[in-house]
Amino acid sequence: MKAWTWDRYGPPDALALKDVGEPDIGPDEVLVRTRAASVNPYDWRHLRADPKLVRLTYGLRRPRPGLVLGADLAGVVERTGDAVTGLRPGDEVFGEVRLGSFAEAVAVPQDRLAVKPARLTFEQAASVSMAGHTALQGLRDTGRISAGQRVLVHGASGGVGTFAVQLAKAFGAEVTGVCSTRNLELVRSLGADHVVDYTREDFTERKGHYDLLLDIVGDRSLTRLRRCLTSRGTLVIVGGIASPRGGLLGPAGQIVRGALASPFVRQRIANVGWKPNSTDLRFLAELMEKERVTPVIDRTYPFTELPEALRHVERGHARGKVAVAF
Ligand SMILES: NC(=O)c1ccc[n+]([C@@H]2O[C@H](COP(=O)([O-])OP(=O)(O)OC[C@H]3O[C@@H](n4cnc5c(N)ncnc54)[C@H](OP(=O)(O)O)[C@@H]3O)[C@@H](O)[C@H]2O)c1
Repeated sequence: MKAWTWDRYGPPDALALKDVGEPDIGPDEVLVRTRAASVNPYDWRHLRADPKLVRLTYGLRRPRPGLVLGADLAGVVERTGDAVTGLRPGDEVFGEVRLGSFAEAVAVPQDRLAVKPARLTFEQAASVSMAGHTALQGLRDTGRISAGQRVLVHGASGGVGTFAVQLAKAFGAEVTGVCSTRNLELVRSLGADHVVDYTREDFTERKGHYDLLLDIVGDRSLTRLRRCLTSRGTLVIVGGIASPRGGLLGPAGQIVRGALASPFVRQRIANVGWKPNSTDLRFLAELMEKERVTPVIDRTYPFTELPEALRHVERGHARGKVAVAF
């Protein structure tokens, strides 16, 4: 089968499309014939080893041989391990792996898969897992969202943000989305009650206003972010679209600062570390079946043009998700 592998850390040119053996499956795993994948900042960060801490996991000088890039996927079940229940060959599924989805077949633990909602294309379904889990767990588990709260999503037009706006509305919140001028209509169309154009207005000037702030961008100090929260509000640190490149910690720098500040302030500061699981995938699938949430696809690239898809995401201005069709 064909798979995108990399034997040095670097830009998307470091990737090579190679013939590799099909993966074996363990008793709890499912072999999925991939029909679509999607690109996350996670992918180019692994490829570049940015932040440098990535090297501790995948190889200090160069990545271990045989690694295949990619996390999100959707496809058709081809084979199941002996301990797998509830999924059968021929089922259309979506979910994610830690690494390996940019390949024609992927071995996926059954607890990271769910049945694809019939109304979604494979490209839409492949766009859900990482961004959808992050938005859901950030709002519901870390943020403890409740109906009627004022929720601000900073970075509302990207992969995580487009899910977060729709999910926060589904939880009954009054939602403000921060994005640039060209994305105002998109974010409104996802259900945001208010939009703030970050090129014209600084949302942190709105003192004491929001109960919950999901920061996906990481370009503001904690002091400024806290300033626009109510005195008992919650700041959830998700990521760093705009965080500096090439450091030891990358977007995790804000997480460390948040953890250090948290014991000394009245507001809650917490970070989301997404934990993919089939229960949350089924929760998302149900909302998508009911048309309460719909993945937003910016562009779809053919599998052979994956490096171009990565370059697009790496520029930091994707509108929703970037899909890859096989
Ligand atoms: N903690 C976790 O478990 C976890 C999980 C997944 C992802 N993440 C992190 O979350 C971050 C976002 O992921 P993503 O998939 O949503 O990224 P993404 O899709 O690449 O985000 C792109 C979007 O960000 C917007 N943007 C760029 N600069 C902005 C700014 N200054 N203010 C507001 N919006 C801005 C862009 O809109 P414009 O073109 O209008 O600027 C674009 O729509 C990444 O750093 C990722 O690593 C964390």
